[in-house]
Amino acid sequence: MKALVYHGPGQKTWEEKPTPTILKPTDAIIKILKTTICGTDLHIMKGDVPTVTDGRIIGHEGVGIIHEVGGSVNNFKKGDHVIISCITSCGKCEYCKKGMYSHCADGGWILGNMIDGTQAEYVRIPHADNSLYPIPAGADEEALVMLSDILPTGFECGVLNGQVSPGDTVAIVGAGPVGWAALLTAQFYSPAEIIMIDQDDNRLAVAKKFGATQLVNSATGNAVELVMGLTSGKGVDVAIEAVGVPATFEICQDIIAPGGHIANIGVHGKSVTLHLEKLWSSNVTITTRLVDTVTTPLLLKTVQSKKLEPKQLITHHFKLDQIVEAYETFGNAAKEKALKVILSS
Ligand SMILES: NC(=O)c1ccc[n+]([C@@H]2O[C@H](COP(=O)([O-])OP(=O)(O)OC[C@H]3O[C@@H](n4cnc5c(N)ncnc54)[C@H](O)[C@@H]3O)[C@@H](O)[C@H]2O)c1
Ligand SMILES: [Zn+2]
Ligand SMILES: [Zn+2]
Repeated sequence: MKALVYHGPGQKTWEEKPTPTILKPTDAIIKILKTTICGTDLHIMKGDVPTVTDGRIIGHEGVGIIHEVGGSVNNFKKGDHVIISCITSCGKCEYCKKGMYSHCADGGWILGNMIDGTQAEYVRIPHADNSLYPIPAGADEEALVMLSDILPTGFECGVLNGQVSPGDTVAIVGAGPVGWAALLTAQFYSPAEIIMIDQDDNRLAVAKKFGATQLVNSATGNAVELVMGLTSGKGVDVAIEAVGVPATFEICQDIIAPGGHIANIGVHGKSVTLHLEKLWSSNVTITTRLVDTVTTPLLLKTVQSKKLEPKQLITHHFKLDQIVEAYETFGNAAKEKALKVILSS
């Protein structure tokens, strides 16, 4: 089969690899129908994720058809259409029993990281019964690719951890795909205001179409002053960090109102100063989370009922064998006006 293979920082090729086979009875082999590229894959390509080594097939999102199942897979059979979760989970260990699939003793975020991933014609999925989700007949499979990672990430790490509530003023820092997922799913709870903060006017303008009530460009203005101005000096009830750099976590600390929640989503590679000298008396909570994907079934229902329309996030289409070109487009997101790209087999 063909696959996108990482060969060290800045080096990737679309090349021939052995088609995966069942290694454990709980495995399934999936033929990929549609996959995508994540901001995290760009981090990997830069060499930022040391667990990814030379020769690894990357990618942790996608939908496909079951090609083969191991002897103890009960929930799926050959020919079933499935969503592949970015998180692999056994469903049985202590962390899985707590709903923390991301910390599964025999899983977590391993796909396209510690084991070969989805940017390929076929992929092996361990613990298939708990790591795959059945696609309802007639569903728009392209839209469901957004359920592998970004929708549960924005919803679980941002909206649920941030405890977004009716009437709240919410700020989302970062209008990338994950910030968008938070923007779309925050609206389940009817916040009064959603302030979107980014440096890219194109992304901000699109965010407005999808429910942001106020836009703040942090490159052309002082984001903290602008948000305080928009909130009569009070700050926001929920600040969702969806970038992963110190400057944006600082913004969250500076705009949070007393009693507010700062929900971190971003993957941080550098330490960030925690301003306890200001926040100790503010009754704020700060949360962190690696996406668990426990809300995937719930989110799937909202997509099926059209309460959530993740297809809006898809801006570009490619064939799977054009993936190197798709990386160029996705890697130049601001210039190409790209959010999510879809690769089809
Ligand atoms: N916690 C988790 O489980 C989890 C899961 C998936 C992704 N992530 C992380 O979430 C973050 C967002 O992912 P994404 O795919 O949307 O990323 P992205 O890079 O596509 O989007 C980030 C956005 O932030 C904006 N930005 C950059 N610097 C900024 C600044 N100083 N001020 C304001 N805006 C700024 C960019 O213009 C861009 O629109 C990443 O750090 C990613 O690794 C975390
Ligand atoms: Zn991802
Ligand atoms: Zn487990």
